[in-house]
Amino acid sequence: MSDTTLIGPQTARRLDVHSVPGPVPMLTPVHRDVDVLAWAAEHRDTVGALLTAGGALVLRGFPVTGQETFEQLALALSASGSVAYRENATPRSHVAGNTYTSTDYPADRTIYAHNENSHTLSWPGKLFFYCATPAATGGETPVTDCRAVLRRIPGHIRDRFLEEGWLYRRSFSPRLGIGWRQAFGVETPDEAHAYAADSWMDAEFDGDRLVVRYRRWAAVDHPGTGEPVWFNHGTFFNQASLEPELRRFATALGVGRLPYNTFHGNGDPVSDEVVDILRKAYEAETTSFTWERGDILMIDNMLVAHGRRPFTGERRVLVTMTEQMAAAATELPGAVAVRTIPQAGPPVDLPAV
Ligand SMILES: [Fe+2]
Repeated sequence: MSDTTLIGPQTARRLDVHSVPGPVPMLTPVHRDVDVLAWAAEHRDTVGALLTAGGALVLRGFPVTGQETFEQLALALSASGSVAYRENATPRSHVAGNTYTSTDYPADRTIYAHNENSHTLSWPGKLFFYCATPAATGGETPVTDCRAVLRRIPGHIRDRFLEEGWLYRRSFSPRLGIGWRQAFGVETPDEAHAYAADSWMDAEFDGDRLVVRYRRWAAVDHPGTGEPVWFNHGTFFNQASLEPELRRFATALGVGRLPYNTFHGNGDPVSDEVVDILRKAYEAETTSFTWERGDILMIDNMLVAHGRRPFTGERRVLVTMTEQMAAAATELPGAVAVRTIPQAGPPVDLPAV
């Protein structure tokens, strides 16, 4: 991803842009008064090819001055329409249309690298971020090359995940994190059970606390390139990835009540040592750039994970998502079917974790 030479002089001429050297491929228009929506419509395929090659692409200096143009630009650069959020893990606010604040999570915390919705049966293929106000300090959106992460994980660890997948457990408590009504967009326990069944989850209520367990893939084949990519929330959601302060709180609470946790597909705990190896693989393949007002960051959500660094000041970064993808066994009209590894399917004899 750090190879900015992927935008050669010929491509730059064709797109009427300059390539800006830096850790993430970046384009800036030759003419600052370019009609950005017409430009996007004309060059969608070329920009899409650059995104597939690099995984992430920053557009800097284009005349995008607000949410509406931003969302139109995202749609113009996408093969299919907007995608809604599912099963949120962190709070966010609706801005307008299909645009949201990227997260309302506290400023002093890190958001760990993740591919959006990589643990749900469908997910967006593309993400677009728009920097309305850069932070005073920090607040980068680091990007992680998931093709490279998969290559970097030692064979014996990787193979077990590719064979068994991950087992996720989420606990929705009225007092901790996001509630099940908000996460699943339902009102009653019956509706929550129906949602869980449709989503291939086991669901169990304990009073007003809902615990769901579900087995999912570790990797998927990218539909555009056919390459396998590491695509899951296993490391992010594992208890060993909790920040120290939250980990102390969680230990006092009992790990069974953590809002989320992950296990090997057969229910075995993932050792701290393995989580550490996975975290190091992410770290080694992560890079970032400093946001400037008006920047747009395009991400191929399957090729690249994203996160957020802590910040000070009034950071405002918006996000919109497009191009619905779904696990191949899922029937979802309009979605591109994606092969998952291991093959996705309804839960069978999920271990009690
Ligand atoms: Fe995200």
